[in-house]
Amino acid sequence: MTPTHSFTAAVLPLLLIIIQGVSQAIKITKLEVPSPLAVGEGGWLVCDWEDEGDHVYALKWYLGIDEFYRWTPLETPPVKTFPMQHFIVDTSESQYGCVRIRNVTVDAGGNYRCEVSGEAPVFKTSFSSAFMTVVDLPDERPRISVEKEVPYKLQQLVAINCSSHSAKPAPQLAFYINNQRVDPSWVSGEEVIVNKTTGLETAVRSLKFRLRPTMVHLGKLQVKCVASYPDLYWQSSEWDFDVDVPFNQGHLPGSQGFVSYGGGPGTTVHTLSLSLILMIINLLLR
Ligand SMILES: *[C@@H]1O[C@H](CO)[C@@H](O)[C@H](O)[C@H]1NC(C)=O
Ligand SMILES: *[C@@H]1O[C@H](CO)[C@@H](O)[C@H](O)[C@H]1NC(C)=O
Ligand SMILES: *[C@@H]1O[C@H](CO)[C@@H](O)[C@H](O)[C@H]1NC(C)=O
Repeated sequence: MTPTHSFTAAVLPLLLIIIQGVSQAIKITKLEVPSPLAVGEGGWLVCDWEDEGDHVYALKWYLGIDEFYRWTPLETPPVKTFPMQHFIVDTSESQYGCVRIRNVTVDAGGNYRCEVSGEAPVFKTSFSSAFMTVVDLPDERPRISVEKEVPYKLQQLVAINCSSHSAKPAPQLAFYINNQRVDPSWVSGEEVIVNKTTGLETAVRSLKFRLRPTMVHLGKLQVKCVASYPDLYWQSSEWDFDVDVPFNQGHLPGSQGFVSYGGGPGTTVHTLSLSLILMIINLLLR
């Protein structure tokens, strides 16, 4: 947030209370901003009102303290826009309080305010605001790096790093083993490194776990790292690797390779072979 934005965020709620307190004539009934957006995207800013007897003299849209759109129905032309560096206003599609914006930059994120005032001589004014988040998405899928080359052995410690590069803000990173979310205690906190030249962020998380027989399916195991922003973005990278498994510890074909703890399908294998031996002994003794 720039100093201007935080100043605006602190002062606006106070003004909002004061001004809404004195206005009854025109009331804003709906305020919508498209959020979250990725850099380069766009959407509709919607400001709807109810004019209990009064008529609209002017409707204005602001980002922070900068006005970028004004609709004055009694003037020609009724719509005026003021150039913004952070997005383009599509004047051919915008009308009344609905404004079509395109091609947002990361600085288009902030507090959007719609202000509607009634007719002279009172010009009673009402306004409302909403926050729009803009994300500069990572340039590529998350990257996985491993400490050691395959093959791994059971009970061995596995260490994996996952990183997502050049985003703002950095995405959330999460690990999965065989499509199951891993135990949170195996994962480090997310570390964020800011590039001072570009202002972009790189996120890094590491995963450490001991290889257990129940994780391995047909001598294989998959680790997945997901980088995401809620309601906006989801990208993953996978690492499949081989594990040397002694014959009677591997899963039988058809069994599920999910992460489980305690007596999993591995126990079933032993029980099965034990009953088989008992059956054979039984047959021999007859
Ligand atoms: C959108 O913004 C980018 C970066 O600011 C710029 O390079 C590009 O020309 C813009 N596109 C349009 C259609 O204006
Ligand atoms: C993971 O990152 C840490 C520091 O961030 C580093 O010390 C370690 O060697 C990395 N491990 C792998 C497997 O890349
Ligand atoms: C920061 O980004 C610039 C431009 O992409 C790159 O050349 C530079 O190596 C980066 N710096 C660091 C410390 O990663």
